[in-house]
Amino acid sequence: MEQITDIMRTMEYGPAPEASEEARAWLKGRAAGIGHFIGGSFTRPGDERFATVNPATEEELARVSQGSAADVDAAVKAARAAFPKWSRLSGHQRARYLYAIARHIQKRQRFLAVLESMDNGKPIRETRDIDIPLVARHFYHHAGWAEMVESEFEGFSPVGVCGQIIPWNFPLLMLAWKVAPALAAGNTVVLKPAEQTPLTATAFAEICAEVGLPEGVVNIVHGDGRTGAAITAHEDIDKLAFTGSTEVGRIIREATAGQGKKLSLELGGKSPFIVFEDADLDGAVEGVVDAIWFNQGEVCCAGSRILVQEGVAGRFYDKLRRRMESLRVGDPLDKAIDVGAVVSAEQLERISALVRQGEEEGGRLWRAPAPLPEKGYFFAPSFFTEVEPASTVCGVEIFGPVAVAMTFRTPAEAVELANNTRYGLAASVWSENINLALDTAARVKAGVVWVNCTNMLDAGAGFGGYRESGFGREGAREGLYEYLVSDVERALKPGREETPFVPRGAPEAERRFAAFGGIDRTAKMYIGGKQARPDSGYSYDVPGKGGVVIGQAPLGNRKDIRNAVEAAARAGGWGGATAHNRAQVLYYVGENLDMRREEFIALLVESTGQSAKAATAEFDTALRRIFYYAAQADKYDGAVHATKSRHITLAMNEPWGVMGIVAPEEAPLAAFVSLVLPAIAMGNRVVAVPSTRHPLLATNLYQVFDTSDVPAGVVNIVTGEKDTLARILAEHDGVAAMWYFGSRAGSAMVERASCGNLKATWVSDGKTRNWLDERQGGGREFLRRATQVKNIWVPYGE
Ligand code: NAI
Ligand code: MG
Repeated sequence: MEQITDIMRTMEYGPAPEASEEARAWLKGRAAGIGHFIGGSFTRPGDERFATVNPATEEELARVSQGSAADVDAAVKAARAAFPKWSRLSGHQRARYLYAIARHIQKRQRFLAVLESMDNGKPIRETRDIDIPLVARHFYHHAGWAEMVESEFEGFSPVGVCGQIIPWNFPLLMLAWKVAPALAAGNTVVLKPAEQTPLTATAFAEICAEVGLPEGVVNIVHGDGRTGAAITAHEDIDKLAFTGSTEVGRIIREATAGQGKKLSLELGGKSPFIVFEDADLDGAVEGVVDAIWFNQGEVCCAGSRILVQEGVAGRFYDKLRRRMESLRVGDPLDKAIDVGAVVSAEQLERISALVRQGEEEGGRLWRAPAPLPEKGYFFAPSFFTEVEPASTVCGVEIFGPVAVAMTFRTPAEAVELANNTRYGLAASVWSENINLALDTAARVKAGVVWVNCTNMLDAGAGFGGYRESGFGREGAREGLYEYLVSDVERALKPGREETPFVPRGAPEAERRFAAFGGIDRTAKMYIGGKQARPDSGYSYDVPGKGGVVIGQAPLGNRKDIRNAVEAAARAGGWGGATAHNRAQVLYYVGENLDMRREEFIALLVESTGQSAKAATAEFDTALRRIFYYAAQADKYDGAVHATKSRHITLAMNEPWGVMGIVAPEEAPLAAFVSLVLPAIAMGNRVVAVPSTRHPLLATNLYQVFDTSDVPAGVVNIVTGEKDTLARILAEHDGVAAMWYFGSRAGSAMVERASCGNLKATWVSDGKTRNWLDERQGGGREFLRRATQVKNIWVPYGE
């Protein structure tokens, strides 16, 4: 028999299983199968069903209906029918429903925690203390937004019917992240849970019925990727929100191209966990536990790449190995368990295969010595050392309890390693030096940065990725925007599709000089602060008023775009300049343009044939825009969120980096300026394609930029055939975000071509705007689109 003294020495405790009777009774009541929740009631379980299992025991928990396209359609119809009434309720009335949902979740907290744990395999400690409380918090927080949405988002209205597809790693929490903001804003939803974890969504549907949520406001359709594809394809869905793998995110981006749907993607990650030599190493070790062994490492923002400063690496690894020895792996319902089961046999196999590959490629694997249960899908917490940045395990998201560890020498090297990934979801920075920590936080390309903490989540702070981790945010004010449309945007109408102007290239001819009375009307492109001739050597005739040729413009090609993107990439200092400095430069642009007023107005008349009065109005609009965005440069700033106690959460508006901007054909001066100025005011560098038909207004601006101290590479102008250049920009991996104003077909093409690096896009869908109108052509919305929010969490206190 074990002696007390033995127990005191080993600190081993016996099993402390959470009671699961209530969850089992609930399952028993659904032994006949689980249907969908459509229009306020559960459907009879269909013929095609799939099993959901408990990954810790491999026992089947329930059989769930596989949603067909017809089921999806029925759910969308129910959501559509419910939308008018739901969206017209006052915010206060909607808030009451959200409060009620939050309260019912709290009331059933224990049951939901157990059910979640059984379906997913995650430890009860986590579902009880993290998942479910955050679910309730999310509904409370968004009940608050519902209360305020009319006053805080004036000029915005709900999008409509939202399709939402979620993964299995935080089943109910991901549901809450999707449903709460959608409902708060006045939308109705069709949500598909992951096929591995459908149970808590079903329990949630029951809660919706219990609180008397109007029929059709929330619809749940179960099924696998086929059901997800049916939601993606459905034409009566106005917005899609997806969380899951980057592969499927890409499929969805491609499938929705040209559909005019709003889209947000929250995808994978390979987030760095940076430990500087002055860090509290014990704290950082606990950080690793929470970063990569929490939730079996099945966390999109998991700190899966540990980067340790060389001088402390040996000590840090020792501490980590020692800590690993005390991790307990086993029955998720045991309250004393640290690591539960991986969600499925497939996921276990995926993890195992990647780990084998890591070892084959020379990595050294350190595995927690914890004994694993015989049955169930378990993987011991592990980490790799002796890996190269180029090895598979350093690049691929393993989505299991396996980190890779590498060393660095200098802070600069740490940042370089941290950013050496196609993802950009999160990062964790450990240092007792606040300057170093914040400097690193600023330089890491990730949507969330935790200083001396990790995996902190709260409804009051936005969450979402940079780069191939997706676009759009969940939580906070920025998350609400994903579920709203501005009245301005909604009122835009498809323009008359004019026959596109197809420039006909010919080798550049000197004879043109003479033809324009000695004025050089052979425009050049503007790349890296210099005038540039086209790589092709071809130019095209620019038609003016009445069709007469008024000049020539270069016919840009792939090489020119590449050069422009490289020049823009090199101009990174612009984003680092103070907002005040950027403002000064932009004011100067305005002043210098104003000095050339007559010339530009005359050129507008000559180019477009509009009256002098109309041209003057366009010029004045362009000028006003410049001053407006100069003024905004140091004012469109971030927020400090109230999240956890003794934390500040800084929401910073960061520039995308290099943006591709394709201007519309109309309003060749005002539209060009209205698009380029907000982008550069926020610190982006731009590769801009001006109106194909009227490019001279933009090419003439180069002198204005030049004399106004706009640094080389901040604005690059490539002229030529619009959609050809748009495609090259959209496909370019060096471009982080893309705005396209042109035809419907062109918009679809840009969305499709952007799926390579999943750049954020803003396209016009063939709708035209009045660029001279204050609200259609300018305002804060352009600044919002020119930035992405980075949240930096900093704890304080001893
Ligand atoms: P997945 O991306 O296939 O699944 C996520 C959701 O998308 C599920 O609801 C699924 O049914 C749905 N889906 C699948 N194919 C679809 C399609 N063609 N159209 C619409 N919806 C579709 O992820 P999966 O297969 O479960 O896991 C594979 C890997 O993805 C994991 O090993 C992990 O690396 C990554 N992953 C990342 C997540 C994250 O939050 N970043 C979440 C889940 C998985
Ligand atoms: Mg399951």
